[in-house]
Amino acid sequence: MNPIDLIQEKKENRAHLASDLEEFVRAYVNHVIPDYQMAAWLMAVCLNGMTQAETSALTRAMATSGATLDLGSHFLHSADKHSTGGVGDKTTLVAVPLAAACGVKVAKMSGRGLGHTGGTIDKLESIPGLRTTLGTAEFLAQLAETGLVIAGQTANLAPADKMMYALRDVTATVASEPLIAASIMSKKIAAGAKHIVLDVKCGQGAFMKTVEEAVRLAQTMAEIGERLGRQVVAYVTNMNRPLGRAVGNALEVAEAVATLKGEGPADLLAVGVTLATEMVSLAFAKPLPNARSEVNEALASGAALARLRAMIVRQGGAWDDLAQAPRLPKAPVTLPLYAPTEGYLTGIDALAIGRLVMSLGAGRTRKEDEIDPRTGVVMGVALGERVAVGDTIAHVHARSEAEAQAALHHLADALSWSPVPPRPTPLIYARVTATHIEYDND
Ligand code: URA
Repeated sequence: MNPIDLIQEKKENRAHLASDLEEFVRAYVNHVIPDYQMAAWLMAVCLNGMTQAETSALTRAMATSGATLDLGSHFLHSADKHSTGGVGDKTTLVAVPLAAACGVKVAKMSGRGLGHTGGTIDKLESIPGLRTTLGTAEFLAQLAETGLVIAGQTANLAPADKMMYALRDVTATVASEPLIAASIMSKKIAAGAKHIVLDVKCGQGAFMKTVEEAVRLAQTMAEIGERLGRQVVAYVTNMNRPLGRAVGNALEVAEAVATLKGEGPADLLAVGVTLATEMVSLAFAKPLPNARSEVNEALASGAALARLRAMIVRQGGAWDDLAQAPRLPKAPVTLPLYAPTEGYLTGIDALAIGRLVMSLGAGRTRKEDEIDPRTGVVMGVALGERVAVGDTIAHVHARSEAEAQAALHHLADALSWSPVPPRPTPLIYARVTATHIEYDND
């Protein structure tokens, strides 16, 4: 395989051989192919796309570019979960304890936030003492003991994705369906679960802006799973507004804990329960209604909350009393936002909220940036709720009075109002497998 020929081939929109892709990725990881040739090829893929067979071959090459785990040989009933990234998306912290409390072994490698989207590792690290860097032996020992572990991606797992993602981030080649699909699926396949549940976010606050694009990405990932011997179910969910009420790392952990106590927002609970149900159904080959009853029971009995605490404590996080939340840091300044008008809240711009929370220090613009775990926004009203002028509708949590004041202005601009109630939009648009798409008609 000559890299120049491979770039030329994709430039001319011709399909690659699987063996060429394998060799190209291996040579890149071994530093035989330089960044500029990989970047040129990535741009050609962005412009011309890839067939399903090529995308699967690329995924396999990336998944096997480093160490791989084989959870199936250790644990009979395991499942993994992944989100394509959104605003206020703390679903993992709700869904995976629910699934684990039903007996599913969940070994999850999560990412950090980048840009306006948050990441589970940053959220967890807002808990004092919690470690997310675990060696493979510790990772597997914790899984055996507590049935649940969430850690950062280890350096030796799918290193091709790590290198290619960093390059895509600075060469305007992130937004490509086959590249996103291969990136996500390579990590899931390297991490070893046989059953994978995906949450493909769709809307203003997500990479995929339309339901059609999101369904296509979901289908591509499900088909990669099928070709590589994994069972994948993907849900396409609404990211035109933030999920839940809290956006910002420690604030989102508190909201996830409240949700497992039955005191959280309905939309977060609904997505969490749906994804957990699918994990239980896949891991134990159970019908969805049976799996859903078990998940509801794990919520009502407090078993899922106890499972999350066991994981957090095992990873060094401070959570003294199950009846309380974990110990979480608090921002020094909290300011309220008052309703500017009487009427119904008809829109919460997820992208604008994601950006303003970044400006408060909760996200990073470069990978090496430090984040502030304390800051963010908590909405006091949900979409469709009616308010009177002067009602308190949100709080901004900030490092300083000046940053809080600036954020209040942006927050006010991100909200839309109307004298009439908005038409409800679906929370879950579709359930997608390699062979079926079911649209939610609620
Ligand atoms: N998340 C990933 O892991 N990879 C992408 O390419 C996009 C989102």
